[in-house]
Amino acid sequence: MKVDNYLPREAEITKVVQETGINLNIKTFHLRFTDGEAMMEFQPGQFLMLTVYGVGEAPFGLACAPTTDCQEIIISVKETGKVTSALHELQEGDSVGIRGPYGNSFPLEKTSGKDVVFISGGIGLAPLRSLIDYVLHPDLRQDFGRVQMLQAFRSPEDMLYDYEQQRWENSPGTTVKYTIDRPCEGWEHCVGFPHDLIDEELDCQTEDTVYYTCGPPIMIKAVTNELVNLGIDPEDIITTLEMRMSCGLGKCGKCNIGHRYVCKDGPVYSYKELLEMPDEF
Ligand SMILES: Cc1cc2nc3c(=O)[nH]c(=O)nc-3n(C[C@H](O)[C@H](O)[C@H](O)COP(=O)(O)OP(=O)(O)OC[C@H]3O[C@@H](n4cnc5c(N)ncnc54)[C@H](O)[C@@H]3O)c2cc1C
Ligand code: FES
Repeated sequence: MKVDNYLPREAEITKVVQETGINLNIKTFHLRFTDGEAMMEFQPGQFLMLTVYGVGEAPFGLACAPTTDCQEIIISVKETGKVTSALHELQEGDSVGIRGPYGNSFPLEKTSGKDVVFISGGIGLAPLRSLIDYVLHPDLRQDFGRVQMLQAFRSPEDMLYDYEQQRWENSPGTTVKYTIDRPCEGWEHCVGFPHDLIDEELDCQTEDTVYYTCGPPIMIKAVTNELVNLGIDPEDIITTLEMRMSCGLGKCGKCNIGHRYVCKDGPVYSYKELLEMPDEF
């Protein structure tokens, strides 16, 4: 099927999952194209532009892996403003428009054969989920080494994907650690910000390991600093940026950092690349 990059395809919402408590209000949406054509082809780390009809359009990272059994698009959305609030009002059976995928992707070739560490903060787990599910897929698991995750949430109510965590924990060669900002009765995992826990909770090798981190900009900065302090090469630290965007196609200039358009050139960058860019993210 020929894809028109400007034209949204209609998709039906097949499932809505309320992920977090009302304070952070994050919902996951499962979407299926209604035109009977093939599923969108994409790579982990790419994003799409979603239209809520009559309201507007916004970019969201794909939170599913492009594996053979992938029949639906999954995105997780934090209620922030106009478009995200309108999307949160929609129900199963409602329609939205989708165009894309856009942007570059997580460096699979660089990651193949290596250990993989994922460090996420809140909704930052959503784009990483596309790669987590890819790496842990039974057909692909042998292509990657040990997997470690450190997932940070504000509180236990703000945890994402509790229905997936058991599967991830039980995957061969995989450890998953969770942390929340402040102590809470009944919480048996870590407490504190992720950058303070990396050294103690993760086995950070400087060779043959690729580090993925995604979350609020302040968390990404603290985590990357800590990883560099531990001797990790900035080229082996990968993150994804969430600038404001409009076209998603490198045409409107809304998402630029210096001379680079994050929608086309990114949103995935190594920390080495970020160090060479103006500090505007
Ligand atoms: C590549 C990419 C992937 C993304 N993936 C996800 C995702 O998986 N899940 C998710 O929930 N969100 C994601 N976002 C952010 C999401 O696109 C914004 O939250 C959304 O555009 C807000 O639209 P709105 O109309 O609801 O808010 P608006 O009404 O436009 O704005 C509400 C408030 O949010 C601020 N805001 C809006 N967009 C951004 C932004 N990009 N960065 C920082 N502040 C912003 C505004 O300044 C304003 O204060 C992603 C953004 C990018 C660029
Ligand atoms: S969003 Fe238009 S150039 Fe990037």
